Amino acid sequence: MKIVVLAGGLSPERDVSLSSGSLIANSLMESGHEVLLLDVYEGLEIDAKDYGILFSKADDGRKYSYQVTEKEPDLNEIKLRNNGQEAFIGKNVLEICKYADVVFIALHGSMGENGQIQATFDNFNIKYTGTGYIGSLLAMDKDISKRLLVQAGIPTADWILYHTSNNSFNTIIEKIGFPCVIKPCSNGSSIGVSIAGTKDELNRALQYATTYEDNVLIEKLVKGREFSVGILKEEALPVIEIIPLKGFYDYKNKYQGGMTKEVCPAELSAELTKTIQERALLVHKILRLGDYSRIDFILNDDNEFICLEANTLPGMTPTSLIPQEAKQKGISYQSLCEIIAKMPLE
Ligand code: DAL
Ligand code: MG
Repeated sequence: MKIVVLAGGLSPERDVSLSSGSLIANSLMESGHEVLLLDVYEGLEIDAKDYGILFSKADDGRKYSYQVTEKEPDLNEIKLRNNGQEAFIGKNVLEICKYADVVFIALHGSMGENGQIQATFDNFNIKYTGTGYIGSLLAMDKDISKRLLVQAGIPTADWILYHTSNNSFNTIIEKIGFPCVIKPCSNGSSIGVSIAGTKDELNRALQYATTYEDNVLIEKLVKGREFSVGILKEEALPVIEIIPLKGFYDYKNKYQGGMTKEVCPAELSAELTKTIQERALLVHKILRLGDYSRIDFILNDDNEFICLEANTLPGMTPTSLIPQEAKQKGISYQSLCEIIAKMPLE
């Protein structure tokens, strides 16, 4: 198959995406596909007439590599790379994607994960991996997804949506209290996320989160064990427990090797395993997610799984969770990429 792996872009998760994308592209090449790894931003400068050359198979195995930086990215740096312009699916990227049998979307973060690219591809009849545009939109906006979860009776942490133009401090403290978690409404990889225990910390956390996005979620902090469940082909994968050695599961603990202990299959009773897997599948369905996803939970002190969020384009980096869950089920990284790439064509 001719496969375009779409990565990079200008979301704050650009580095994470390039890491996922390069691993995916190498794996698909190893499976014998003709693969083009396209950075959406760089791709704007690629002339579409070159697509024939770009799809050529590498003779010597690995061709793409990219490391995630350990530091949480600075949005200004990302924007500067494109002279302050937002990236978009330009004419050339679209032209190249039209020649692929399937586009493997390895983008993370707002751009690529919020449904805009999926809707564009639908309009041009381009086949792509993962979730369609409605599910992408519903899952990417944490305020919308939580409203849908509440409506379906799925527990999620109490929250309010803070906007730079509304919500006084007193309302936040009255409704949510301390400690609370402050997170940009539509971002991933814990970028812009902080935990606040005082008014001063809340103030700093809001200033920080709003550098990424005007809409910010303020959630009650739920204490407990953290778990994640991947969904592949409408089936739950083995559960993984995430144990950061220090602090919470933030950007550094997610992507710097050795900072977090992951236990898969998680040490949970058969009953709790069944409960979390069924709940993950339910979240997947309620948010109308597609061929694969990953749903994150906290198990609170009352033995109740509280849903944190759903990820439509879960990380595929060396430290990411869904490849570890798949491996536990006997699905190698290479097979996982192959399964995901083929599903849109079935
Ligand atoms: N947003 C990151 C890539 C994840 O969910 O794994
Ligand atoms: Mg996420």
